Amino acid sequence: MAAADSLQSICYSRGSLRLLDQRKLPLETVYLDIKDSSDGWYAIKDMVVRGAPAIAIAAALSLAVEVSNLKDFAGSGEDVVVFIASKLDYLVSSRPTAVNLSDASTKLKEVVRRAAAYAGAQAKNVFEAYLEAAEILLEDDVASNKAIGGYGAAIIRLQQNNGKKLSLLTHCNTGSLATAGYGTALGVIRSLNSEGVLERAYCTETRPFNQGSRLTAFELVHDKIPATLVADSAAAALMKEGRVGAVVVGADRVAANGDTANKIGTYSLALCAKHHNIPFYVAAPLTSIDLSLSSGEEIVIEERSPKELLNSRGGLGEQIAASGITVWNPAFDVTPASLIAGIITEKGVILKEGGDSFDIKAFADKLTGDQ
Ligand code: MRU
Repeated sequence: MAAADSLQSICYSRGSLRLLDQRKLPLETVYLDIKDSSDGWYAIKDMVVRGAPAIAIAAALSLAVEVSNLKDFAGSGEDVVVFIASKLDYLVSSRPTAVNLSDASTKLKEVVRRAAAYAGAQAKNVFEAYLEAAEILLEDDVASNKAIGGYGAAIIRLQQNNGKKLSLLTHCNTGSLATAGYGTALGVIRSLNSEGVLERAYCTETRPFNQGSRLTAFELVHDKIPATLVADSAAAALMKEGRVGAVVVGADRVAANGDTANKIGTYSLALCAKHHNIPFYVAAPLTSIDLSLSSGEEIVIEERSPKELLNSRGGLGEQIAASGITVWNPAFDVTPASLIAGIITEKGVILKEGGDSFDIKAFADKLTGDQ
């Protein structure tokens, strides 16, 4: 797949992967060649590529490139299973909070395990099964995001008063750059805009790494969506002025009760939204849901380098903080389900059935039953 425009973060064709270096946006458009899982690991850790779905796809495809270009693998089909599993475990260690990566890893391991279990399966057949499964992740993501956009727009439209357009506030970057294309929360905003319902999108700067000012603002301007950038600390005042009809954010990991880990600052926005009686939605694919965790208390929160606060440009620029100060820099926080109005997925919107939390397992079981 070639780079159709500057908003394509993942450019893949069999044997070749290029990732848009998001650290350089919006000023420079530079693609980095990813030749193997080690390149993939560093690209994820160093934020060349970020956003829960994009991380999972980039990791899987970095290993796909390594596999495609393997010259001499002497082992059996079973050896391939061990090889792929150890590479995937390594990739999963790059960033702990987003569950999409470990979800993809579990599914890909299962694919190769099944392929190897076929009588007479050779290494090349098992590798081929891996390649096809990894490539499907990229293909499926855009359709999933468009479905999220459609369901999200439908529920948020219910907020409309006498057909008046709505303004939405979003946080971090959940758009084309954080996914294979279109986006989750930003996909909902894109859908509302294409339906003529969006008055304005407000995006936060998203300190300290500035995914909002650098990436979301870039996407909104690129798509000519009416949009305004606000400081993270301006969100409460914006809501108080009555300028926000709904808040929509993405997710890195949603526990079974609906507690949601997302970019640091999400929890503050949800508290402010509650105070101002503004509905607060999470938009995320089912791959962001972790039914193995009963609540958000079990979610491991990644802490990132103090440099992101000590230096300008999220750690990439010159020193701005006083030398000697200690830093606490969690990359994510957990918003309790009680503050969330609905979880917008590609299969529909999960709502609470009374009470303060969601029953996501019941929603998932119903989907399985419907198939
Ligand atoms: O640290 P980042 O930039 O990877 O954090 C990204 C977020 O928190 C997003 O909201 C989340 O991954 C969803 S992206 C569709």
